[in-house]
Amino acid sequence: MGQIAPYSQLAMLPPIREKIETIKILRQANMAAAALAELKGIAKTLPNQAMLINAIVLQEAKGSSEIENILTTQDELYKALTVNLSGISAATKEVVNYRNAIILGSSILKKQGFIRVNDIVSIQQELVNNTAGIRSTPGTVLKNDKTGEIVYTPPQDKHDILDLLSNFIIQFNHNDQDLSPLIQLAVLHYQFESIHPFYDGNGRTGRILNILYLIMNSLIDIPILYLSSYIIENKQDYYRLLNHTNKTGEWEDWILYMLKAIESTSMQTIDKISRILNLLELTIQKVQIKAPKLYTKELVELLFEQPYSKIEFVVNQLHVERKAASRYLKELEQIGILQSQKAGRETIYINIGLIEILKS
Ligand SMILES: Nc1ncnc2c1ncn2[C@@H]1O[C@H](COP(=O)(O)OP(=O)(O)O)[C@@H](O)[C@H]1O
Ligand SMILES: [Mg+2]
Repeated sequence: MGQIAPYSQLAMLPPIREKIETIKILRQANMAAAALAELKGIAKTLPNQAMLINAIVLQEAKGSSEIENILTTQDELYKALTVNLSGISAATKEVVNYRNAIILGSSILKKQGFIRVNDIVSIQQELVNNTAGIRSTPGTVLKNDKTGEIVYTPPQDKHDILDLLSNFIIQFNHNDQDLSPLIQLAVLHYQFESIHPFYDGNGRTGRILNILYLIMNSLIDIPILYLSSYIIENKQDYYRLLNHTNKTGEWEDWILYMLKAIESTSMQTIDKISRILNLLELTIQKVQIKAPKLYTKELVELLFEQPYSKIEFVVNQLHVERKAASRYLKELEQIGILQSQKAGRETIYINIGLIEILKS
């Protein structure tokens, strides 16, 4: 039925329990769960959750796009979000779309408590900015970047794709009390990538679904796990292990990979959050000592919600006149917290300490 390359039938979920619950997997699942629980706890101590969501979601958007060779700089990205500039690169636009897609997914989940196939289509649409939707024309194959060799042929027939997707979404929303949700996450991510339901954006949509799955299962409260950083550092393994499971039906190495990714990124994100909290504390002290007249909690928090700030943001957040807002930002620059830069016709003020932490 319209298949252009041998398509080895992708099995429906769930896999046989023994294949996905080996001793090694169970041990690693415990470690990943502990790290993630610690991250969830630390995120709760933040005075203002919006602070982190903005910054980490943007890092994830940038990182997940980078896996697909969509490259932008932190600077261009923040500028694109802060001012209306002409000449923003296509890559930066894609990363901004990715960020909006995570936000869209989170809000759908918050409203409904579960995800439907149509929601996945909406998320992918937001991401790729077209309405092609689920594949209906055969021809999509996965190739090795370097050799051009076909490594995997996903289902080609639209009916097969839809059947597999409805099986996927049932498992996605199903809460199996005695299977670790983190093992389930690894299985789901493999399955989604192997169904490969779209012409493009499958990798990024799948990685957004990972975050939504963690939130749905109350493993984190807000979309702040920066999983893509691990995949970037271990990209060859990511492709190799997806492939290995395609070819052999063996799950262990793939699941271990995903569990390590969760453990490692949880720890990195914990570290990042504690450095951000430290900087926040220092910034509050510095403003209180060096510019006591303009200190308010809201002003300092704004500088962390919007690492690239501008007059308008201050006006909106603090309900002050433009003149006052401009003076605040200039004073914050004088005491060494912000650094100004021209962007088009506007002046933006960069929280340099925060940007350093986010970059690292
Ligand atoms: N052998 C494989 N089996 C299943 N999925 C794979 C395989 N190799 C790569 N992938 C997935 O395909 C994604 C790339 O698909 P693509 O539709 O181009 O997504 P995007 O546009 O987000 O890059 C990779 O990020 C990976 O998740
Ligand atoms: Mg692509």
